[in-house]
Amino acid sequence: MAVSIARTVQALRAAVSGWRAEGLSVGLVPTMGALHDGHISLVRAGLARTDRVIVTLFVNPKQFNSPADLAAYPRTEESDAAKLAVAGAHLLYAPDAEAIYPQGFSTTVSVDGASEGMEGAFRPGHFDGVATVVAKLFLQSGADCAFFGEKDFQQLHVVRRMAHDLDIAIEVIACPTVREADGLAMSSRNVRLSPEERALAPRLAAVLFDAAEKLAAGAAAAPLLADARNALGRAGFGAVDYIELRSQATLATLERASEPARLLAAVWLGEVRLIDNVAVAPAS
Ligand code: PAF
Repeated sequence: MAVSIARTVQALRAAVSGWRAEGLSVGLVPTMGALHDGHISLVRAGLARTDRVIVTLFVNPKQFNSPADLAAYPRTEESDAAKLAVAGAHLLYAPDAEAIYPQGFSTTVSVDGASEGMEGAFRPGHFDGVATVVAKLFLQSGADCAFFGEKDFQQLHVVRRMAHDLDIAIEVIACPTVREADGLAMSSRNVRLSPEERALAPRLAAVLFDAAEKLAAGAAAAPLLADARNALGRAGFGAVDYIELRSQATLATLERASEPARLLAAVWLGEVRLIDNVAVAPAS
């Protein structure tokens, strides 16, 4: 059966009110479309935990730094809807721009701390765009839980902080990164890699996993991260925007894996910017 589509806040709220009247819980999976198995894993997590799952599809102009990146972002609503029908999602909320940013829209949600450094440093304003649209999606849907992938680990922190600070009664649930068989983290941007770039791309995850193992064995971060940068350069990647060891709980910079940590990186491959992160066990 085809998935129902809502394009206005009114249609979204009517669906949710109906479910609420039946005493059903509601999960939300925010996306920008071009759905892959990573997104579908979020839908599955939603179905396992809530009675009804809404997937949102909105390519949010406010979180893009470059008009070229926004224009190149894949838009595949028809096949997305077909995938959601197979996965068993209950509603696709694909609002038109007017439903999210009506004429005169003047509010920005800005999250200090979690938005700073890494993606925040290289994509100024990106997290303001994310926090603003996600706050709207949370408030428009009134969902009980929202499901986000750990691939965008800093985004997860930003969204959690925003929901907590604004007293939005929604539980933000982190779901593991889904990888291709060769280790590449799934991303809607991967379709833009040339065959040669696609062949090289999994080296990013390999370098991160290798460094994570050494950090877990007690290595100091600075020399190891410098080696990882060099290894990526030698492999054929372009600029490494960052590669950093951060606390999993607070995102504070760490000199060693003195607590559960994450190794996070952003690196260019041709015209495509890949981001990835891996867990680092605390060194004993
Ligand atoms: O992760 C994404 O796809 C986007 O940043 C999100 C959370 C859907 C907000 O536009």
